[in-house]
Amino acid sequence: MKLKVVELFGGIGAFRKALINLKIPYKVIDYVEIDKNCVKSYNKLYQENFKPKSVVDYELPNEEVDILIHGSPCQDFSSIGKNKGGKENTNTRSSLLFKTIQIIKYAKYKPKWIIWENVVNVLSSNHLKVFCSYLNYLKNLGYETKYQVLNAKDFGIPQNRERIFAISFLGQNIFDFDKLDKKEMKNISYFLEDKVDDKYIVKQKSMLSHLVNQGYKSKFKGKLKIIKDFCYTISTKQMRVPNAGIVDLGNGKYRYLTERECFRLMGFTDDDFNKLREIYQEKENTTSSILYKQVGNSIIVDVLEAILKQILLL
Ligand SMILES: C[S@@+](CC[C@H](N)C(=O)[O-])C[C@H]1O[C@@H](n2cnc3c(N)ncnc32)[C@H](O)[C@@H]1O
Repeated sequence: MKLKVVELFGGIGAFRKALINLKIPYKVIDYVEIDKNCVKSYNKLYQENFKPKSVVDYELPNEEVDILIHGSPCQDFSSIGKNKGGKENTNTRSSLLFKTIQIIKYAKYKPKWIIWENVVNVLSSNHLKVFCSYLNYLKNLGYETKYQVLNAKDFGIPQNRERIFAISFLGQNIFDFDKLDKKEMKNISYFLEDKVDDKYIVKQKSMLSHLVNQGYKSKFKGKLKIIKDFCYTISTKQMRVPNAGIVDLGNGKYRYLTERECFRLMGFTDDDFNKLREIYQEKENTTSSILYKQVGNSIIVDVLEAILKQILLL
C-alpha cells in the first residue's frame, strides 16, 4: 500500500526526498506551492508537472490522506525577521498556518497525521499564543499533538539548526519524540567542497569587520561565525546574511558556503543539486540567490526521515 501524502507550502519537497530515501511506497496526492521557481525545482527533482498555486481557498481532494505536511512561512516568527507574527487574519505570511486549519476543517477526509515545522521562536512570549491557538484548533478538529524542538546535529547533519516539529494525529497520539532514531553528527569535511570559485571569498570589508570589529557597517547585524565542526543555521540569504557562518581558508581569508554545500547540509544529494543547476545555471561572478533561498527555506531531510520511520512503526 502506498502512503498518501499532501505537501502544503511544498518548496523543494524535503518530505518527498525523505520518503524516497527510505524507499517508502508513496503517492503525492497534491503539492501546493505559490512560488513558480520552487515549483519548477520540485518538478525537476521529482519529474512532476505541478503548477504554482496558493493555499488560500485551496481544498483537499476527496481522497484519503495519510500525512499532510505544512512547513508554513516562518519569516514573521523568526528572530531575525521583523517579528510581525502569525496571528490569524492578520495577512502576514506566517498567519498562513491558519489556512491549513481551514483546509483540514472543510476536508471530506481528514488527514491522519499532520506535520508542521517552523522556527523555534514561535515558542517565544511574542508568538506562543499563536502556536497555542494552532494546537487548540487541531484539538477541536479531533487531533492530539506532540511537539519538540529538534536539532539537525542530532540526526547526523553538521548544522546547528533547531526547529520545532509538531506532530498531530487524528485520535490518540502515541508518537514519541524520545524514540526518534538519532545519529552521530558526520564530519563536516564530507559536506565541504575542496576547491571553490573566487566569487565565494568574503571580500566586503563591512562583512569581515564582524570578525575583526573594525567599525564598518553592513546590513548583516548578527555575529559572523567561523565554521568549525558544524555550520550554523542556513538561512535564505547566505551571501547577505551569512548566519550559517564562513569557512576559514587561512591567511586571513574566508569564504561563504556554496549553494551545493548548503544543499548537502540540508540532506539533499549532489545529484539533486546537479538537476537544479540545469535550471539555474552557474554564472561567472554571481551566486544563485534562488538556490540559496530554496534550500534555506527547506527542512532537513534526515530529521524528516527519523520522524517518518517512527510514524510508520505506529
Ligand atoms: C518555509 S518554506 C517551506 C519549504 C518546504 N517545506 C521544503 O521542503 O522546501 C515556505 C514555502 O511557502 C510558500 N508559500 C508562501 N505563501 C504561500 C501560499 N499562499 N500558498 C502556497 N505556498 C506559499 C513559499 O513560497 C515557501 O516556499
